[in-house]
Amino acid sequence: MSVRAAVARAAARLKEAGIASPRFDAEELAAFVLGISRSALLTAAGFTPVEAERYEALVDERARRVPLQHLTGVAGFRYLELSVGPGVFIPRPETELLAGWGIDTIKGIDKPIVVDLCAGSGAIALAVAHERPDAVVYAVERERHALAWARRNADARAAAGDTPITVVAGDATAPRTLADLNAEVTMLLTNPPYVPDRAFVAPEAGEHDPGAALWGGPDGLDVVRRLVARGAALVKPGGWIGVEHADVQGESVPAVLAATGDWDEIVDHRDLAERPRFTTARRR
Ligand SMILES: C[S@@+](CC[C@H](N)C(=O)[O-])C[C@H]1O[C@@H](n2cnc3c(N)ncnc32)[C@H](O)[C@@H]1O
Repeated sequence: MSVRAAVARAAARLKEAGIASPRFDAEELAAFVLGISRSALLTAAGFTPVEAERYEALVDERARRVPLQHLTGVAGFRYLELSVGPGVFIPRPETELLAGWGIDTIKGIDKPIVVDLCAGSGAIALAVAHERPDAVVYAVERERHALAWARRNADARAAAGDTPITVVAGDATAPRTLADLNAEVTMLLTNPPYVPDRAFVAPEAGEHDPGAALWGGPDGLDVVRRLVARGAALVKPGGWIGVEHADVQGESVPAVLAATGDWDEIVDHRDLAERPRFTTARRR
């Protein structure tokens, strides 16, 4: 069967299954099966019978709402391709904005110390290390499975020539975690679990992202409150914090920071769709 016909059929199937980007996903899976880039699909000859069968099986899984990134094993994040799979949160495009804000903000600061709390796959920390080779970067993650993915990605990026980061196992909200860095950190970035307990999430997230990556208590801010308190001890005077949040938390997260009295320049930022997405502030 021609690749074009197979992709068109798969896209129709995925659309019916409620996938938000059916054509893109159908193309990505075809490119994955053929071992080529999506742009090379245009000139691809066709599937062999074995490839066609494999493609069909992957499209079936995607139609059952298994995340695309679990099927291909990779997720893009800024300039990096990270390994992902069961047990780790798939990095999202929204979080690229938070990482980008952090990287832009520390421009001109020599050898900044950057901490990624609740690191998951290590996406934020590894993006910073890639784009700021002089930065000293730490990534903290508590969950065993996620930690294994973070370590695997950190090893791969170091082998590719990026400055190695330090992956720390532990509770990011605990005073003992990174205690040596108290009042030393230039930039703290975090994409914590922030989904309110009873909120609806798409099946890709609800059934495949780890619960510890999603749920943040009745208003979603249980972990955020503790991270903001821990952040005040870690970040040095004049340093920054950036906290990703849900689109309904564009006022409550700034209020959490303001209530502590520890932070100035509290600003909430919107994503490309104009939804409130992350809050930043500067340590007094
Ligand atoms: C929303 S995910 C974000 C992962 C990654 N930063 C990203 O943006 O793709 C939140 C992560 O925080 C971890 N986590 C939750 N509570 C934690 C805690 N108290 N200390 C450390 N990690 C925690 C979860 O296991 C999960 O990997």
